[in-house]
Amino acid sequence: MDDVDQWLSRWQEGRIGFHQDEANELLIRFWPRLIPEPSVSVLVPLCGKSRDMTWLHQRGHAVLGVELTKIACTAFFEEQGFPYVVESTGSHELYVGTGEAEGIRIFCGDLFTLPPQMVSTVGAWYDRAAIVALPPEIQRRYVDWLSVVLGSRSIGFMLTFDYPRGVRTGAPYPVGFADVQSLFQDTHEVVLLDEIDLGADNRWGLPWVKEPVIQLIRR
Ligand SMILES: C[S@@+](CC[C@H](N)C(=O)[O-])C[C@H]1O[C@@H](n2cnc3c(N)ncnc32)[C@H](O)[C@@H]1O
Repeated sequence: MDDVDQWLSRWQEGRIGFHQDEANELLIRFWPRLIPEPSVSVLVPLCGKSRDMTWLHQRGHAVLGVELTKIACTAFFEEQGFPYVVESTGSHELYVGTGEAEGIRIFCGDLFTLPPQMVSTVGAWYDRAAIVALPPEIQRRYVDWLSVVLGSRSIGFMLTFDYPRGVRTGAPYPVGFADVQSLFQDTHEVVLLDEIDLGADNRWGLPWVKEPVIQLIRR
């Protein structure tokens, strides 16, 4: 089963332990000082049905998610009682929030087959559990895709997971600060803002897990 099929079956079977019912605490803590202006549009790649998109929208941002599965795109709007319409854009359906959800849009389908020119340039982006959802050999393609849509001086905010290599397989893959630096250093200034120690009390039973909190500034 390839990665895309694995994610589809995880959603079909409800194996979505990564989903958080409330907005992410680190997002709430760091975002306002990194991106105070509500006029900035925010890209949320591999967004799932994350409530973080609602939190960003409540701060005044236009939000553009990209998510593989229809289940997640539909659930995002329906679980929160948000009205929406679905538009066809050719390769991908676009879920468009209306009424109180106006300003939230989600492209539904594989990010790697979404032509970057369909995504208008964004001033900010948020990756929580997104790059870690991709196998290491695909992560470079993700960075290349982002490079096309990220405007000059755009700000990225990333929350990844790091843990000992070789002790488990599958997502989330370990992505430490050094990995992010090596992937993005040609195009971004990469700043470690904090690193949360999740210790041994983590949902994968790993000896240690850290959650790097990273800011990226496009050169
Ligand atoms: C670990 S989840 C994180 C979701 C969200 N960021 C959150 O914090 O809840 C990763 C998500 O990426 C989606 N995904 C995986 N590969 C993708 C791809 N190639 N294109 C678009 N979405 C993808 C999966 O369906 C899944 O919802």
